[in-house]
Amino acid sequence: MNSLKRVVIIGATSTIAEHTARQLVEKGASLYCIGRNPDKLQALLQDLKVRAGDNQRIDGCVADLLDVDRHDALIETAEQALGGMDAVLIAHGTLPDQQACQRDVALMRREVETNALSVISLLTLLGNRFEQQGAGVIAAIGSVAGNRGRQSNYVYGAAKGMVAIFLQGLRNRLAAHGVDVVTLKPGFVATPMTADFDRSGPLWAQPQDVARGIIKAMIHGRGETYLPGFWRWIMLVITHIPEPLFKRMTL
Ligand SMILES: NC(=O)c1ccc[n+]([C@@H]2O[C@H](COP(=O)([O-])OP(=O)(O)OC[C@H]3O[C@@H](n4cnc5c(N)ncnc54)[C@H](OP(=O)(O)O)[C@@H]3O)[C@@H](O)[C@H]2O)c1
Repeated sequence: MNSLKRVVIIGATSTIAEHTARQLVEKGASLYCIGRNPDKLQALLQDLKVRAGDNQRIDGCVADLLDVDRHDALIETAEQALGGMDAVLIAHGTLPDQQACQRDVALMRREVETNALSVISLLTLLGNRFEQQGAGVIAAIGSVAGNRGRQSNYVYGAAKGMVAIFLQGLRNRLAAHGVDVVTLKPGFVATPMTADFDRSGPLWAQPQDVARGIIKAMIHGRGETYLPGFWRWIMLVITHIPEPLFKRMTL
């Protein structure tokens, strides 16, 4: 079981991350939160401080994670603020307009930079630090969309798929060093990211429930975690549809 006493949350102003942060603080964790939007980050830190006890440290800083040159300094600052890192959660992401990405190479590249390259840059730095310390857990939020390319969102899916494969390799490398690497794969979650979707039907999850699943997966070092769990079976079916049939489906 992993200790979640000192946790760094990257992309902390994401709705799923905010719920995770609140639940972690209620379990006694100290947190360092990195987020892009200064107002949202301030509000989150204030809220967490109210919930925290005297022995819990709540701190954070503003950063655009596309600025990969800052990543090392950000991690160093976070680690120093907490006096060490037991766990890191990487949560930032964007849901691109697939059709706009098809028309605009620069936009497509920026979406891949946000959802894949910025994440694996952080994972590279974190992987080395955690390998040296020989303990802890690194978790990142991917998506079920990363399991198979579909016409409606394959830019996002390709980026999340890249993160998932990277995490697989990192997990394999760090297993011998006592470090758990967790791939979180939510399905549909009711957050601002999906505000324009029709949210009817049984497949939708609430961010607080997904947050609970994230914390469980991090504590137990579960390699690949679907949130909610039934998505494992849905994706098993989807990935086994033969390609000649799949390419004719409108998904
Ligand atoms: N909602 C879903 O259905 C769903 C499903 C599967 C996976 N996910 C994944 O879950 C994670 C959390 O998403 P969410 O649903 O909680 O959505 P959200 O509330 O819209 O959060 C997305 C967050 O990413 C941040 N972000 C985007 N680009 C950034 C950058 N360059 N630097 C720093 N922060 C950046 C945003 O910051 P600002 O506040 O500054 O915009 C925002 O806080 C994402 O990785 C998403 O892909 C979501």
